Amino acid sequence: MSQTYKSIRISDDASQAIKDFTLPEDLAFGKVMAPVMIEADYANGKWGDFNLVPYRKLTLDPTCKTLHYAQEIFEGLKAYHTNGDGPFLFRPEENFHRFNLSAQRMAMPDLPRDGFMDGVEAITKYCSHLIPQSSGDSFYIRPFMFATDNNLGIKPSETFKFMILASPSQAYFSSGSVKVLVERNAVRACPGGVGHAKTGGNYAASLLSMIEAKKAGFDQVLWLDAVTKTNIEEMSGMNFFAVYGDKIRTPNLSETILNGITRKSIIKLANHLGYEVEEQEMSIDQLIADIKEGKCTECFACGTAVIITPIRSLGNSANDIIELAHAEGPVSMKLRQELLNIQEGTGEDPFGWRISLKD
Ligand code: COI
Repeated sequence: MSQTYKSIRISDDASQAIKDFTLPEDLAFGKVMAPVMIEADYANGKWGDFNLVPYRKLTLDPTCKTLHYAQEIFEGLKAYHTNGDGPFLFRPEENFHRFNLSAQRMAMPDLPRDGFMDGVEAITKYCSHLIPQSSGDSFYIRPFMFATDNNLGIKPSETFKFMILASPSQAYFSSGSVKVLVERNAVRACPGGVGHAKTGGNYAASLLSMIEAKKAGFDQVLWLDAVTKTNIEEMSGMNFFAVYGDKIRTPNLSETILNGITRKSIIKLANHLGYEVEEQEMSIDQLIADIKEGKCTECFACGTAVIITPIRSLGNSANDIIELAHAEGPVSMKLRQELLNIQEGTGEDPFGWRISLKD
């Protein structure tokens, strides 16, 4: 180890791995991985060194607790380098705080701020020439932590691994084409559970419904609350919004809803642009009635990967579908562009969300 970036040790072979790497032309989203990654291990009650090392496969004992009991958390954030301007990170501190909230819920150790923030910066800076430069493209950064104790006992692991991977990615977006199935049976999260934590199990729990929705001709699933199955919670792995003229509604946060960083950014940005945003309980039946009466004209979902995607229709089944009047999403597309301008550095940043990593 000869170099460091802040608290991160840079291995000699990391620099070589970056030199040897050629970026493919076709990137898609999350498929091509940067040639380096951050790695740190936790044992005996403390974190070891945080290192930038070449990307490589892991060797796991088959009894590794994560494989059996899913003691695992992750984050997702993006760096932008549009037209070679940047790189810029978007609100990484928010991801750090949410990471440690997820860690607490999943009985995992806190991560030191420097390990997370310096790690995100180091992988972005060392790979800045690998960040695609077209608008909407990004460097998708995936910090995660998982249990590494090797035994089948059901008790919290005492050892963990933290890693950060990164993926040069094209925009993850489909304009106005999302057909959504209201999931009236299965639920994503329940009170007292782990719905507000960014842990793999929440995503695993959603997959079967997604398969069934696709079979019925839909693209995504709208989740309702587990207790009454009447109130909207999330859409797939994203937060949900509905547009009523110059008012925008979104379900209020609870322990069953992920506190989305794009969600909270959109609320602030929409307020700034003159919309009133109401965070409240949202009945699915009321929403459908409002769409039928023309009161609600547009719905959209948001998340780090997609930023914002307008919704074309909501359905209870293949034969019971209601189309949104403004499926192309004029309000959502405006919010998306304004947010992207902040993220990519092409617009004002009135909230101080953009972190520049320019030399
Ligand atoms: C997000 O975009 O925020 C997500 O959680 C999607 C990601 C798991 C690909």
